[in-house]
Amino acid sequence: MKKLQNKVAIVTGASRGIGRAIALGFAQEGAYVIVAARSEVEKKELPGTIYKTADEIQNLGGRALPIRCDVTDEASVNGMVQKAIAELGRIDILVNNAGVAFYYPVLETPFLRWELVLRVNLTGAFLCSKAVLSKMIEQKSGSIINISSLAANERDGATISTGLAYAVAKAGLDRLTYGLASEVGKFNIAVNCLKPKHVIDTEGMRFWVKEEERKDWVSPEKMVRCAIFLAQQDASGVTGVVATDEEYFAWHGL
Ligand SMILES: NC(=O)c1ccc[n+]([C@@H]2O[C@H](COP(=O)([O-])OP(=O)(O)OC[C@H]3O[C@@H](n4cnc5c(N)ncnc54)[C@H](OP(=O)(O)O)[C@@H]3O)[C@@H](O)[C@H]2O)c1
Repeated sequence: MKKLQNKVAIVTGASRGIGRAIALGFAQEGAYVIVAARSEVEKKELPGTIYKTADEIQNLGGRALPIRCDVTDEASVNGMVQKAIAELGRIDILVNNAGVAFYYPVLETPFLRWELVLRVNLTGAFLCSKAVLSKMIEQKSGSIINISSLAANERDGATISTGLAYAVAKAGLDRLTYGLASEVGKFNIAVNCLKPKHVIDTEGMRFWVKEEERKDWVSPEKMVRCAIFLAQQDASGVTGVVATDEEYFAWHGL
């Protein structure tokens, strides 16, 4: 029996990067994956679309449903979740992975950019979580996984390099994780946060960082294995935890 057999999982930001890797990993474990992001047409500087990820899953024998979704737009989020429920009848797992950074200090951060970074990384997770909760409550189980960053914990250079808007948004996402975990535990829903310990080589990171500075980057493999582990949780298991992939590996023998 595969670990996520017959589970329905929404992965936001699954058109590329870590989200795509998690979507592929979930599908290989038997989940039906909703590939949710905005890109329907390939962009030169940021490759990947929802259809491409869904095709990759199907070519590997998995099941996927691509649905366009902008996580900053409540109607778009609700429409995506309603379509998923109409087609598949249930939602077991939500991965709030969609994210954007802005690699500049506050003095060089326009208001609209500040707002966008908070809306994608934090408000998007709130909107997607809210949209799936009533179905998960009805099912009396569910797992929500928020993809955060060590930028939320840094107080010096690292925070400045990824931009303070991003660090603040991810700190909010950490806080949302354990607050929501305690709110929805009584409905048997787990909420956890997963952060990479090391920089993951993704299309988004390549966009921002010059080739000569891409040292010690790693593949998303450990993130995928942790996401599969967290996707299997409900409130009787691991919940309310904010930790890195390395920590989940060490604590749970992954
Ligand atoms: N890579 C790392 O080292 C690293 C480190 C720490 C944390 N993280 C976190 O891990 C997550 C994934 O990062 P990544 O490196 O894989 O990034 P990426 O390659 O830039 O991919 C980001 C994804 O987010 C989606 N997205 C952006 N805005 C969206 C919106 N408004 N609505 C829906 N989807 C949206 C993008 O899809 P569309 O453009 O198609 O919408 C894309 O699929 C992010 O939350 C990031 O903060 C990454």
